[in-house]
Amino acid sequence: MPSDHIIGLGFPIAELSTYEFVWKFIKSLPLSEGTEIFMVDTLAGFSGGIVGPVRDC
Ligand SMILES: Cc1cc2nc3c(=O)[nH]c(=O)nc-3n(C[C@H](O)[C@H](O)[C@H](O)COP(=O)(O)O)c2cc1C
Repeated sequence: MPSDHIIGLGFPIAELSTYEFVWKFIKSLPLSEGTEIFMVDTLAGFSGGIVGPVRDC
């Protein structure tokens, strides 16, 4: 069942990934069923495919 809130993640791309502190923050989020998440990233041109790894976190 969907929750009544949504989480937005925004961070910069670095080295076809993102910074370690961003990964640490994402991984520190509590597990939750039904919380929707959206993400935006800023970048110079190529992210290397960040959506999958973030989704799998
Ligand atoms: C150490 C470092 C690594 C970066 N690696 C990438 C990268 O792999 N791909 C990319 O598209 N942009 C990369 N960038 C660019 C940043 O994502 C970009 O500077 C940041 O999103 C902020 O945008 P702005 O420079 O337009 O303000 C990198 C920037 C830095 C400082």
